[in-house]
Amino acid sequence: MSNSTEAELIHVFKGIPFTTRSSPELLKSLDAFDAREDDVLLVSYPKSGTHWLAGVITKLYDSQVTITSPIEFGDISKLEELNNLSSKRIIPTHLDYNMLPQNFKKKKCKMIYISRNPKDTAVSMYHYYRDNPNLPTIDTWTAFFDLFLKGNVVCGSWFDHFLSWEQHEGDKNILFLFYEDMKKDLPKVVKKIALFLSLNVSDKDIQDICKKSSFSEMKNDTEKENSDPSHTVCALTSNRKLIFRKGAVGDWKNHFTPKQNRRFEEIFNEKMKLSKM
Ligand code: A3P
Repeated sequence: MSNSTEAELIHVFKGIPFTTRSSPELLKSLDAFDAREDDVLLVSYPKSGTHWLAGVITKLYDSQVTITSPIEFGDISKLEELNNLSSKRIIPTHLDYNMLPQNFKKKKCKMIYISRNPKDTAVSMYHYYRDNPNLPTIDTWTAFFDLFLKGNVVCGSWFDHFLSWEQHEGDKNILFLFYEDMKKDLPKVVKKIALFLSLNVSDKDIQDICKKSSFSEMKNDTEKENSDPSHTVCALTSNRKLIFRKGAVGDWKNHFTPKQNRRFEEIFNEKMKLSKM
């Protein structure tokens, strides 16, 4: 556990909590970012399967692509660092739609939004908070559950994040994916991604990609890797074991009390009443 205080780890920008590793100067200057037409954005609320999706996408490209750390992560030098990359950029982000640099929208860059049952997302995030010294200390699941529902966690409210992106579900340059669909039928989702990215991939390649993207394979691979957190999808830890925890659907049932479940459902139904989900 960390000895750092919450104030040293978290700051609030435009009403959304960020870790202090996303500097206010960088967040303020994001709109000046020079997007390229062929950038691909990988968008998620934390703990929704971002690494899984990133693993699939890098395997789908047979040419050289660079996965960067999240665009909002780092200090003011980040924009220049991204500018200097000559290869095709796959850029992860946890920003909500409103905070996304304008240039990505103007240039209609391809964006893939991955979402996950918010109950499982909350549980995954709880474990991530507990084991990550770069995030505030959390004493109990009950305490975290309250923070999550209030949106008082990094990247803010799951509901606000999802709704800001869902409004753009019909945009041709945005593909919506669900973690649960990847668990159910990964080849089908991989084909969908390939089509969206206009990549020609054979059925045999799809099979190989799916095999190499299984939870156990990815967990083993990353345990062997010596990853630099400033160039990884997560960027908040160099401990890859924190990312590949359980990889299951429905783990929330092992954490939620019946009362918490009722409260979650009430808030979900209220917040999501205009959602198609
Ligand atoms: P759990 O904590 O529930 O295990 P993100 O990459 O957005 O941080 O999401 C992390 C979550 O995705 C973790 O969930 C992790 O185990 C899960 N995950 C990562 N790779 C996976 C894979 N190949 N298959 C299934 N789940 C995976």
